Amino acid sequence: MKGVVFTEFMEMVEETFSPEILDTIIEKSDLPNDGAYTAVGTYDHQEIVRMASNLSEQVQLPVSDLLEVFGKHLFSRFTVLFPSFFSQEQTAFKFLKNIDSYIHVEVKKLYPEAEFPRFFYEQTSPATLVLYYLSSRHFEDLAVGLVKGCLLHFKQELKVTKENASYENEAAIKITISP
Ligand code: HEM
Repeated sequence: MKGVVFTEFMEMVEETFSPEILDTIIEKSDLPNDGAYTAVGTYDHQEIVRMASNLSEQVQLPVSDLLEVFGKHLFSRFTVLFPSFFSQEQTAFKFLKNIDSYIHVEVKKLYPEAEFPRFFYEQTSPATLVLYYLSSRHFEDLAVGLVKGCLLHFKQELKVTKENASYENEAAIKITISP
């Protein structure tokens, strides 16, 4: 996982909780580099899972809620860090349909060692978009947070639900975005 995800996670912890809580979770998470991440480095994604689990213990909130909060934060940071992916005439649905075929493809050119999930989508009605998330890393709560961050960015008030499903016989998480 790219360092940018780690540095943004730490920023979220510091801003949403406190610098002391950040120090505590860095200490408890037994990080090989003592929490010194650089945005361009690549690190084991389990380190973020450990930090999220220690944060959950510290602040008494479920890991799934924390990853969702992080996803929202990350999306708003992406709008600043990657402005070229955002244009005037976009909508949340157009943007989300492009993650797999365009956004992650472009990000991969910048960071060749990055590992992305796969997404498939079905627009089941004009107001409903279904995303299938496939990844061995199981960051579906992060994905839900990113989707919610995307809806906030485009000022669209829609519900987001997730459930276990399959896509062409592969295990997938079905994320439904609807009124
Ligand atoms: C401007 C928009 C976006 C950018 C620049 C971006 C970039 C990235 C980057 C850099 C990573 C880390 C990959 C690695 O280090 O190995 C990542 C992973 C990920 N992205 Fe995106 N992304 C964007 C939008 C989205 C959206 C909208 C979603 C949600 C539907 C999403 C879902 C994910 C997930 C869940 C991961 C974690 C890896 C995994 O699940 O296997 N991304 N993305």
